[in-house]
Amino acid sequence: MKHCPQCRKTYDDAAILCQYDGSPLLVTTTLSDPYNDTLIEPKLEPDTQSEWSIKVATDIQPLQSPGSRLNNLPVQLTPLLGRKAEIMAVENLMQREDVRLLTLTGPGGIGKTRLSLQVAADLLSEFTDGVFFVALAPISDPDLVAFAIAQTLGTKEAGSSSLFESIKEYLRDKQMLLALDNFEQVITAREMVKDLLMTSSRLKILVTSRESLCIRGEHEFAVPPLTLPDIKQLPPINTLTQFAAVELFVQRACAVKTDFMLTSENMLSVVEICARLDGLPLAIELAAARIKVLSPQAILARLESRLKLLVGGARDLPERQQTMRGAIAWSYDLLSEEEKKLFRRLSVFVGGCTLETAEAVCSIAGDMDIDILDVVASLVDKSLFRQEEQSDGEPRFMMLETIREYGLEQLEASAEAEAVRRQHATFFLKLAEQAGPKWQRGREQLDQLEIEHNNFRLALKWAMEKEVETGLRLADTLADFWIMRGYITEGRMWLGEAIQRSGGSLPSVRATALIGMAYMMTRQGDYASARLSYEQSLTIGKELGDKKIIGDALNGLGHVALNQSDYASARSLYSASIKAYRESGNEARVLGSLNNLGEVARCQRDYQLARSLYEESLAIARGLGNRRGIAIVLGNLGDIACQQGDYVSADSLYKESLIIYREFAEKHGIVSVLDGLADLAAVAKTA
Ligand SMILES: Nc1ncnc2c1ncn2[C@@H]1O[C@H](COP(=O)(O)OP(=O)(O)O)[C@@H](O)[C@H]1O
Ligand SMILES: [Mg+2]
Repeated sequence: MKHCPQCRKTYDDAAILCQYDGSPLLVTTTLSDPYNDTLIEPKLEPDTQSEWSIKVATDIQPLQSPGSRLNNLPVQLTPLLGRKAEIMAVENLMQREDVRLLTLTGPGGIGKTRLSLQVAADLLSEFTDGVFFVALAPISDPDLVAFAIAQTLGTKEAGSSSLFESIKEYLRDKQMLLALDNFEQVITAREMVKDLLMTSSRLKILVTSRESLCIRGEHEFAVPPLTLPDIKQLPPINTLTQFAAVELFVQRACAVKTDFMLTSENMLSVVEICARLDGLPLAIELAAARIKVLSPQAILARLESRLKLLVGGARDLPERQQTMRGAIAWSYDLLSEEEKKLFRRLSVFVGGCTLETAEAVCSIAGDMDIDILDVVASLVDKSLFRQEEQSDGEPRFMMLETIREYGLEQLEASAEAEAVRRQHATFFLKLAEQAGPKWQRGREQLDQLEIEHNNFRLALKWAMEKEVETGLRLADTLADFWIMRGYITEGRMWLGEAIQRSGGSLPSVRATALIGMAYMMTRQGDYASARLSYEQSLTIGKELGDKKIIGDALNGLGHVALNQSDYASARSLYSASIKAYRESGNEARVLGSLNNLGEVARCQRDYQLARSLYEESLAIARGLGNRRGIAIVLGNLGDIACQQGDYVSADSLYKESLIIYREFAEKHGIVSVLDGLADLAAVAKTA
């Protein structure tokens, strides 16, 4: 962190003009402020007092419970059946002082997630700082666990410290319950769990996983199947639904066939189905979903023969897992060819997809001549998909992980896998490019990118191996999203890999990617790497004779110099960038560099010069209608006015700036302006 010796502000990456395509600038004056770049308290309620209250885990709704504390527990659409004994046992364990890590284990589909959600909701009152559910199902890389936790908690990378360090710092004195779901995906991240528990003495963690974490202090609870009646001594029909497995079958059957009833004719078959499916709730759901066209007797007969015919490597699996797999295979076998095709192709998505995306990705060379909506709806009916709602209200189609795994296997076996993955990557590149030009994306566009973040990660991973051009373009176009949404470390990783793998190809994309990466490095205080990266892009810019790239690289080098208090270099670099932009008639960029030049003057206490540079910049911003640029420069002018004791002007400049920042919901900007207004209030009080 750098302290500007002359002016009242402390900079860590002052006066940054980001490089961006096409037009307007983004300059952020990043204050070393407790609210800036550090951890922000998660809040679920709209908070009228603080401007930076954020929504936690945008894709899940808060659980409604009276007097509820902070939580992000998703609302369940169906009631939880049975499980009284398990709930009591798990809650008793969680309430013990010596139990800080409890893992619910069991095969996919046995009901671990449902149980953990119920326990988490019941324990809300025990945790002053709330209960948070982190879905790890869409994450397969243990390195991304920290991102998933951070996204749920609303924590951001703080300056140069890693995201995980920020999370630890945030949780240090929190009395909180973290529920980590589907940990088997990232089992090697177990050290992280240990580390969190060691740092934060009042934190408890409830994990669901197919296997235990095997770390010291871990308590394990093996989730049993749902209760079943004894088939040899069948109890009276009116007591059968006291057994959760039967109750679940009946409820799910009624959902698809409203007049379904347990009768003396079908009860034995129903009980046998549940028993044959080992009381596994997911398997029972899949079977019951077919009641519309098959009688219980017919379901049983078909299931029996399917379960005998073990699929693939299933023979090596533990018994219940074999059953689960058999049940999914059974359900898959009953699909029509078109349904099968769509099901396996849709399993490529991580964290689900919208109907529009399904349509775009799932047809290979127009080979899906069907109404995708109809087929998707039919897969929802069959319990293979579930329909949820995105934070923007659009329906999103998801698969439970256990089911998706099967779909992926089918996809891999189908010879279509490569084509589907290529379409997936191409589609997400297009989607990112269509979310507005880089650096000009507003909240809505950034939110949209956030919803698909896991799909972008998948596309990047594929592209790095198979189609590096797509990878480079995608990483380049996501650079501003990573920066603005606090994924700097991850962004650096992707951009770095893409640049390295792309060798000498696509020089202009490489150059902008290098600039994006250098900006991230500057944000993290890694000035030496940033300078190197800017210099590489400058070289490419000169080779290409591309003035925009040259201007951006020089401007970036200016930030590095400014951050290192090398004002003379900063001034000449910014001036050189202005020259390059002017030569190419790029006024939109000029305004950013002018503003940055103003920052240098301010740091050198030449307020007169600073003001005139800002004013020149503001005039360009107004002329171009660049709202974000206007907000930034107004804030800086406010600071100067404040500095010079002109509090009335400062007040109105800040307020005008604040109105615009609010339009963009840009937290950094809002916070910096509020900081200025707070200073004014303090002055007014002492005056
Ligand atoms: N006790 C229960 N009552 C009702 N539905 C249940 C119950 N347990 C599980 N389910 C349903 O069964 C399916 C699988 O459960 P889930 O908790 O996702 O399993 P797991 O996490 O072990 O893979 C889900 O659709 C879930 O809603
Ligand atoms: Mg689960």
